[in-house]
Amino acid sequence: MSAEEFDLIVIGAGPGGYVAGIRAAQLGMKVAVVNKYDKLGGTCLNVGCIPSKALLDSSEHYHQAIEKFALHGIKTGKVSVDFKQMIQRKRDVIENTVAGIDYLFKKNKVTKIVGHASFVDKNNIIVDNKGEKSTYKATNFLIATGSKPTELPFMKYDGKHIISSTEALELEKIPKELIVIGGGVIGLELGSVYGRLGTKVSVVEFMDRILPPMDAELGKTLQRSLKKSNFEFHLKTKVTGCKISRGKVTVEAENKKGEAVSFKGDHALVCVGRRPYTDGLNAGAAGVALDERGFIKVNDTLQTAADNIYAIGDVIGGMMLAHKAEEEGVFAVEHMAEEIPHMNYNTIPGVVYTWPEVASVGKSEQDLKADGKEYKVGKFPFKASGRARASEETDGFVKVLADPATDEVLGVHMIGPRCSDMIAEAVLAMEYKASAEDIATICHAHPTFTEALKEDSLMATADRAIHV
Ligand code: FAD
Ligand code: NAI
Repeated sequence: MSAEEFDLIVIGAGPGGYVAGIRAAQLGMKVAVVNKYDKLGGTCLNVGCIPSKALLDSSEHYHQAIEKFALHGIKTGKVSVDFKQMIQRKRDVIENTVAGIDYLFKKNKVTKIVGHASFVDKNNIIVDNKGEKSTYKATNFLIATGSKPTELPFMKYDGKHIISSTEALELEKIPKELIVIGGGVIGLELGSVYGRLGTKVSVVEFMDRILPPMDAELGKTLQRSLKKSNFEFHLKTKVTGCKISRGKVTVEAENKKGEAVSFKGDHALVCVGRRPYTDGLNAGAAGVALDERGFIKVNDTLQTAADNIYAIGDVIGGMMLAHKAEEEGVFAVEHMAEEIPHMNYNTIPGVVYTWPEVASVGKSEQDLKADGKEYKVGKFPFKASGRARASEETDGFVKVLADPATDEVLGVHMIGPRCSDMIAEAVLAMEYKASAEDIATICHAHPTFTEALKEDSLMATADRAIHV
């Protein structure tokens, strides 16, 4: 029997692949999306963005109840956690969200194929679904196979004591002590879930600060806030080994003074980055090249070394973010359809969903210094915001970096309440090359957290802030 034929086959149904599949169908292509698992949505929906945010929201409610309600004049009886229910709610959220993608595929006439895809050549793949093999042919392919957690060679994941984010989202009980290796986004978000529920969280970080790629002031401020939620931080500390005995894990490390130190806990959550996932893809057979770290190499239009095969998302590297993967997916299929797509990597926001929330877009102060570029700073603390005081959420600030000659906004960095939503205004401003004065002269509703962005833009423009 001859292979079923498509205009486009997308490999991987994470946020990059499923969005690309739907956009391709809108553009009139006959499209199929192959996914290893029946459940669509990839890392993001199943073991990433959505489950972590579900647990962050649940644990934040608990934290509010025990830490903040009394201050607001709300009395409760003894508040306790039903952790099984918390995990069950997270599973239900995943299930509903994943089912939504099946619905969208049907609505847009995207064919779903379940199984692991491997290239035969640049126009043919074999899909293996639990041993049952089928072949498919396409004019174009889009590789969106994502990433997997990086493993430390001397402490391999065992799923019980040495865990990745996947197991940390499905623990059976709240740990007493959690060792987090890597003070990046996963460590601080999942550490926050358990810190709020009473776990002692010890973060062991190799660098001299947490969230190293972001503007340095953000990490410093977040570190101070998280110390109030059962976190302790061991910076400039290099993990060297690990032992498991009597149900406990001991992580051995070398601190900044070169001394041997150790940390004992119920689990060690290793979150030191993620690696591109191309296992079993047989990319070479199609002429697709990888770089020395295993990421798929692409050109400016996201084409691999084989020009009918595009690649997007975590598997090509750069910022490993769901919305970056989505934008690239749309870009790639619009390019296939000979449209003129748009992609601006400088305006992709990064958000860390701790509390206070951290959000950033554009250049950080350290980026601008490294580039030798002059900049001016406007910085407004939330403690001067009426809305923040009314909400008892005064930790943090909003900082605008602007060009001293043209006033163009070069970067916006914020930490505080609801920054995950507030960053959208800064993205819009930067995308349309607004000046700090443009933001400053727009009317912002009062009292809102967004006034902080107006105030610090006033500061950056002409030191004209009203409320500081
Ligand atoms: P993925 O989502 O990894 O999807 C790839 C899919 O391809 C998977 O379903 C995989 O099974 C399938 N696949 C792989 N190989 C094959 C093959 N050969 N054949 C068939 N199918 C295959 N990002 C954010 O922007 N915001 C967040 O809040 C956020 N939170 C996160 C929290 C955690 C705990 C983690 C781990 C990640 C988080 N991320 C977040 C990152 C985000 O999940 C990823 O950047 C995003 O999922 C990448 O999308 P993708 O489409 O490139 O790949
Ligand atoms: P990360 O790159 O954010 O952080 C890894 C941290 O580990 C870094 O601070 C690094 O210096 C440190 N590190 C590396 N090796 C180490 C070692 N041997 N010992 C101690 N520390 C070490 O990676 P993370 O947290 O694993 O997340 C992976 C990806 O998932 C990130 O790229 C992120 O973008 C994405 N993600 C995004 C989220 C969001 O957008 N809110 C949430 C969670 C994940």
